[in-house]
Formats: sequence, structure tokens, C-alpha cells
Amino acid sequence: MRLVYLTVAALLAAGPVLAADGKALFEEKGCNACHGDDAATPLDKGYPKLAGQKAVYAVNQLKDIKSGARANGLVPDTMKAVVEDLPEADMVALAAYIETLPAKPAAKPGNPTKIAEGKKLYMTKTCIACHGREGGKPIQAYPKLAGQEKSYLLAQMKDIQSGKRTNGASNAMQPVMHLTSDKEKDAIAEFLANVK
Ligand code: HEC
Ligand code: HEC
Repeated sequence: MRLVYLTVAALLAAGPVLAADGKALFEEKGCNACHGDDAATPLDKGYPKLAGQKAVYAVNQLKDIKSGARANGLVPDTMKAVVEDLPEADMVALAAYIETLPAKPAAKPGNPTKIAEGKKLYMTKTCIACHGREGGKPIQAYPKLAGQEKSYLLAQMKDIQSGKRTNGASNAMQPVMHLTSDKEKDAIAEFLANVK
């Protein structure tokens, strides 16, 4: 296939065609079994939502899971098995599709006091500098966090802090995580999970 020879940037620019391919692949490869048909209803607590995620970030994660550079979390081996034979062009198509889907915040409203506290901490602990306003406008190839599953957010924060997750640009974030207590992480995750 000719697409294979294009750069990732060029592929991402070919958006709509790719998104259609990605939609088909999302079912074909069984991604929907764990991440939900709308990519925003994960099978289990602690599994991430993907809908609306920045495509370039998602491609990097798929590559890192495939290579083993990212091996933290709940089912790294299962995810790895799914992407083991996935060519980069398919990853790009899947990511282009995922990015077009609407993000969905937590179904049940969170604790208002915790949300307010988390919102303040999100600003003062400098999360905003990299992940953008309310976690929805990240810089570079950094992830969106707005509306993400709370237990997934918490697990990743802890794994980046402890060094269990070191893939990509995780090291840029690690020193910041040492500035937050577990209680503060919980409040920040409560806030982010409820961003609409
Ligand atoms: C068996 C369940 C399962 C299947 C099948 C699965 N995933 Fe995942 N996926 C996960 C879990 C769980 C994580 C979080 C890492 C962990 O805890 O192992 C994840 C992480 C991801 C991430 C990184 C999310 C982030 O915010 O960093 C992306 C992107 C992703 N999956 C896309 C896909 C795609 C595309 C497919 C199909 C080709 C797929 N997944 C198939 C369970 C699954
Ligand atoms: C210096 C930039 C930077 C700062 C500041 C920062 N992060 Fe991050 N964060 C990143 C990068 C980069 C990643 C993804 C690493 C990769 O895979 O490339 C990330 C990943 C994450 C993830 C995992 C997302 C996912 O989908 O897997 C969470 C959750 C997160 N950050 C929360 C926070 C919180 C909360 C704060 C503030 C306490 C924060 N970050 C501060 C750069 C930053």
C-alpha cells in the first residue's frame, strides 16, 4: 500500500479518508471490546477512554506498547498482543478516527468540593502548562486529559511518578508529580474526569 511510504505528519493530514479506515479497523481489531463502541465507554474501571484523544499522542502510545517501551498498567500484554502485527499506517488510521470522536465526561457527576479543589491544584501544580486549559489543549504530542476515566488518570499519574511508566516524554512530567500528595492527585483526577 502506498500510504506506508508517507510520513506520519502527511498521513495525519489525510484525515477524513483515514478516519473511515480507522473506524473499520477499530472493530476489526477488537479495540471496541475493551474501549467501547464509541471509544468512550471502557469495559472496565481503569481502562482509558480514547474518544477525542490527540492523534499524534495515540500513535506514539500504540508504537510504544508494540515495542514494549510502555508496559505499565492493567493489561499491557493483552494490548501488546493486539498491536503486535499492526502496521504503523493502521495505527495512524485508528488514531485519526479516535480523534474525530466526541469525548464523554464521567456519567455520574463528581463531588463538587473535590472538583473545585482539583481545578485549583491543576493550575498551581503546573499541569496546565503541558496539558492545557482544563486538560483539553495539550502542547506538542502530549495527551488530552479532559473527561478521562478517573481511576485510569490516577494510575498513570502514580506510574509516571514511580517510574513504572517512562515512555515518550513521561520524564518531562515526573518531577512535577513529586509535588503532589495522593490526596491532591485524587482531587485533580476527580476534576479532570468531570470536565465537559
Ligand atoms: C484487552 C483490552 C484492550 C484491547 C483489546 C485494546 N486495548 Fe487499548 N488499552 C487497554 C488498556 C487497559 C490500556 C491502558 C494501559 C494498560 O493499563 O494496560 C490501553 C491503552 C490504549 C491507548 C493509550 C491510551 C492513553 O491515553 O495513553 C491507546 C491509544 C489504545 N489503548 C488504543 C487501542 C486500539 C487502537 C486498540 C485496537 C487495535 C486497542 N487499544 C485494543 C485495553 C485494551
Ligand atoms: C512538563 C510537561 C508536563 C507537566 C507539567 C505535566 N504533564 Fe502530565 N504528561 C506529560 C507528558 C509528556 C505525558 C505523556 C508521556 C508520553 O507518553 O509521551 C503526560 C501524561 C499524563 C497522564 C497520562 C495520560 C494518558 O492518557 O495516559 C496523566 C494522567 C497526566 N499526565 C496528568 C498530569 C497532571 C495531573 C499534572 C500536574 C500535576 C501533569 N500531568 C503535569 C507532560 C506533563
